[in-house]
Amino acid sequence: MAHDLVIVANRLPVDRVKGPDGKTTWRRSPGGLVSAIEPVMRAHDGVWVGWPGGTEQRLKPFKDDGLALVPLSMTAEEIEEHYEGFSNGTLWPLYHDVVAKPEFHREWWDTYVKVNRRFAEKAADLAAKGATVWVHDYQLQLVPQMLRELRPDLRIGFYLHIPFPPAELFQQLPWRRQILEGLLGADLVGFQLPGAAQNFIRLVRQRVGHKTHRDLVYLPDGRTVRAAAFPISIDAAGFQEMAESEAVTERAAAIREALGNPKKIFLGIDRLDYTKGIYARLRAFGELISDGRLTVDDAVFVQVAVPSRERVEHYRNLRDDIERLVGRLNGDLGRIGRPAISYLHTSYPREEMAALYRAADVMVVTPYRDGMNLVAKEYVACRIHEDGALVLSEFAGAADELRQAWLVNPYDMNGMKAALLEAYEAEPKELARRMKAMRKQIAQHDVKAWADSFMTELEDEGNNHRKTLRPADRS
Ligand code: G6P
Repeated sequence: MAHDLVIVANRLPVDRVKGPDGKTTWRRSPGGLVSAIEPVMRAHDGVWVGWPGGTEQRLKPFKDDGLALVPLSMTAEEIEEHYEGFSNGTLWPLYHDVVAKPEFHREWWDTYVKVNRRFAEKAADLAAKGATVWVHDYQLQLVPQMLRELRPDLRIGFYLHIPFPPAELFQQLPWRRQILEGLLGADLVGFQLPGAAQNFIRLVRQRVGHKTHRDLVYLPDGRTVRAAAFPISIDAAGFQEMAESEAVTERAAAIREALGNPKKIFLGIDRLDYTKGIYARLRAFGELISDGRLTVDDAVFVQVAVPSRERVEHYRNLRDDIERLVGRLNGDLGRIGRPAISYLHTSYPREEMAALYRAADVMVVTPYRDGMNLVAKEYVACRIHEDGALVLSEFAGAADELRQAWLVNPYDMNGMKAALLEAYEAEPKELARRMKAMRKQIAQHDVKAWADSFMTELEDEGNNHRKTLRPADRS
């Protein structure tokens, strides 16, 4: 069946999970993207193409809670070279300020091209005449161009969920031109921040040689491509409602109780990723205790580390480093029943996250580089009593909007210690002033507003592109 809207993302919005009885079922992925796209999918008779995780082949299209999903299988080699390799061993570190060293391997690139082509072909099969296709994230940057070649009648949008690096770094990539040309297949290329869109435009001018003016690229065939910022957000009302529920309120109290009712709880929740700055923040907290500025009776740091990309070497090493640090800090600083760090290597459903947000007095989000960071926004949405402090890295996209957080440079250990302490000691009035302003921002710029603005903009750009098509190509 042909669809008017096709969402193309590396992952499906559901994960394949094995139950205790050995049966496999589908479980809704906890990520924000699903709740962001879901209303758009429903409104437009949409279909979602993505990898279901794992190597299972020959999975059939299916419906989950009314959403049409098309699984695209990957072989073990494709997972290794496209997903773990080029996407997460080359692009991920390169796009995040080379926090880790990117690796460049020609076989990885070849498989990236191959997998992108398969996604493009599948999208071309599923799209109705004149349909809209919305492609997501760094794993699929070649899809827009490949798809346009197959289906010039389509309206194609691309959104990058992670940062887009400055030219000085992007230039390292041996396949820089192909990636830029891949993205230029779209009518609209969306980024988290205006700076990322400007990086892209500048690179297109320098490396591909197209004419540009402000946020527009003029292609030789008369088509224009727009590059602009659409900062992603969360379902703020949904989180607030969950945080207000009796179940979450009770669970938050139970969490505080289980931690021994300390004066203040610090909290970090991150995918276990080297961009997140988990190690440095735990060290900063540890030093505050060993300096005697905080005590384990008064304060505890709860760190939830969500398992991620566990077969990639950098991620395995990071886990070892962090767990060694946690062990050392608890061994040196903790007492029986009073660890300095309460460390959890697991993922939780949204309700448990909301309870943690409600239980925590100081939320600590200190990435070295992050496209947006939705955890920071979720914390704000859950602070229904306008209390609680947010310590936030300047290098997270969210820092552009959450100006009233305690903003820190995660490379500056003393600065981070000072901010943690200030947040810990802040008066309720000061906390309320800051939280109120941040809550207003989040309420006004929620995920629905994000999806609507991208889709509206894409429609405008797409119409513009159609005018340049030969009549025979038009739908
Ligand atoms: C980031 C990326 C997403 C990715 C997610 C989880 O948010 O922008 O594209 O899906 O991390 O990572 P994973 O490798 O498990 O898909």
